[in-house]
Amino acid sequence: MAEPLLSVKDLSVSYGRVEAVRGVTFDVAAGSLVTLVGANGAGKSSIINAVSGLVRPSHGTILFDGQDITRTKSHRLVPRGLVQVPEGRQVLATMTIAENLQMGARTLPRRDAAAAIDEMYQRFPVLGERRALPAGSLSGGEQQMLAIARAMLARPRLVLMDEPSMGLAPKIVDGVFAVIDEIRASRATVLLVEQNARRALQAADEGHILQNGEIVRSGASADLLADDDIIQAYLGTGRAKE
Ligand SMILES: Nc1ncnc2c1ncn2[C@@H]1O[C@H](COP(=O)(O)OP(=O)(O)O)[C@@H](O)[C@H]1O
Ligand SMILES: [Mg+2]
Repeated sequence: MAEPLLSVKDLSVSYGRVEAVRGVTFDVAAGSLVTLVGANGAGKSSIINAVSGLVRPSHGTILFDGQDITRTKSHRLVPRGLVQVPEGRQVLATMTIAENLQMGARTLPRRDAAAAIDEMYQRFPVLGERRALPAGSLSGGEQQMLAIARAMLARPRLVLMDEPSMGLAPKIVDGVFAVIDEIRASRATVLLVEQNARRALQAADEGHILQNGEIVRSGASADLLADDDIIQAYLGTGRAKE
């Protein structure tokens, strides 16, 4: 089997005496979408932030394309193709949509940047129509689209997404997952963390269920979704109508 694009081995993350992540191990194969699902506080953001270099692990190893990035800072990882869509969207609200996208494309040669931004306007017409408006004027779902478009402009080899559906109305969540499906179809490699386990597993190839900082179940997403015990224990029934 080919070497995974991302390999996380025995990862632990602590904040003072709080051990938020304990001995987490998983791989992300190139071209696949892998999801980590779990409740609020399970350790999802801690794992993704450790991979992107925003949080320093207390233990373990993270390999990206075979190279040890365990202690590499996030600004050094972006040019290497590892890009995070941050939790809570975090678009620059006072800057225009166009300026936000230019930020995302700043590592590309100038001519490529303009073409890449045009491509995003075609893919997300609402961003094109409103390009001259402040990003803060967009709805929550549109801001999430902008955050994803901005991350994709860097032409990442690995995209990390932290709860892209958080705080969005169900209809808008549909739009966000449609965008994730498109990214998936483009054969980009994605690590997605979500509280919305059912939706995330429907979008993913493989899933890991995280509870109190540890992976408790792993498998092909379809198998996890088909497992009644898992649905009972982790996915609940309350989300079925989403
Ligand atoms: N900066 C921090 N300082 C102290 N504790 C933190 C910090 N960030 C997260 N935690 C704690 O670590 C645990 C995991 O948090 P987090 O990784 O944010 O989980 P999730 O993203 O799954 O909600 C929680 O108990 C949370 O309170
Ligand atoms: Mg989180």
